[in-house]
Amino acid sequence: MNVNGKPYRTIWLEGDIVKIIYQPVIPHKFEIRSLRTHHETATAIRDMWVRGAPAIGAAGVLGMVQAVLQSPPENYRQFTSEAAELLKSTRPTAQNLFFEIDQVLHCIEEANSWENACEKAVVQANHSIDTSIHACQNIGKFGAELFEDGDAILTHCNAGWLACVDWGSALAPIYYAARDGKQNFVYVDETRPRGQGSRLTAWELGQENIEHAVIADNAAGYYMAQNSIQKVIVGADRIAANGDVANKIGTFTKAVVAFEYGIPFYVAAPLSTIDFECPTGADIPIEERTPEEVLYTWGMADNGEFLRVRTTPAESSAKNPAFDVTPAKYVTGIITEQGIHAPADLHQLKG
Ligand code: MRU
Repeated sequence: MNVNGKPYRTIWLEGDIVKIIYQPVIPHKFEIRSLRTHHETATAIRDMWVRGAPAIGAAGVLGMVQAVLQSPPENYRQFTSEAAELLKSTRPTAQNLFFEIDQVLHCIEEANSWENACEKAVVQANHSIDTSIHACQNIGKFGAELFEDGDAILTHCNAGWLACVDWGSALAPIYYAARDGKQNFVYVDETRPRGQGSRLTAWELGQENIEHAVIADNAAGYYMAQNSIQKVIVGADRIAANGDVANKIGTFTKAVVAFEYGIPFYVAAPLSTIDFECPTGADIPIEERTPEEVLYTWGMADNGEFLRVRTTPAESSAKNPAFDVTPAKYVTGIITEQGIHAPADLHQLKG
């Protein structure tokens, strides 16, 4: 996708350096950062310099490539197996991270020498990134068919190209619909506490000239009751075999309200987000992040200074679950690279 007219991916590899668009400073600055080792890549995932399930998956793959390229040739198996453990320990909910790391690990295990392991890991990383981009494009094509010209669409969090390698999952259909000439308006949930909607989705939509408004998370129900929203579309961090969906905290309440008003609620995600080993949403591990994200907010002052400010009493504590689970009964359809599926039919996709 384009930033000021120049095409970018969210994450890519140069030699053994992982390059990322540094997300904490968007929308105020556009900055590329270099991650020199798999340790730095793990920290970037944990601290959400790169975030969003498919982008985290790509970071996991590229972290594994760094690990094998930088490993001592005589000990590459143990080195990469420890690297995989470290990278997997960064964020527990996004299935893509585990899926993608296991694919590279498998290639490394199959190799008969360090050179061969390096070669196989690079081939696998290229394949996995190409597959991810292609999946998002197909999600975009299938999903765009669901939107009528003039629909107002609600989205939560950022499931755009910053959350993937390119195109996005929930935002890809919006981008494809715009290219088909449809005029859609997007309601962007702010997505407290980290503001992925107000900071990232709003910025992405602006880059694509798509009409939108940021709304406080609490306002979505008001607009649904006013008949102002025709469709809801979100991404997913993990989808259980029964169609229950883990996504950014606050998704569940939007789904319940949409259900109440008969508004179609779609989930867009590549197949790599589906965890067929996870029977129901209750089995999905939910990440609990630091209370500081709730107790403080941050942004850029008018003088250009980045500020972190406390918005809660000094003595208050906070709780900060990063995701919630939307039961399958509230989900109208799951859009993958293979089409649009009823949540109950997911088992048919098991490879
Ligand atoms: O905590 P984040 O910002 O990584 O959470 C991101 C989300 O919840 C997205 O909706 C999800 O990963 C889908 S991204 C295509």
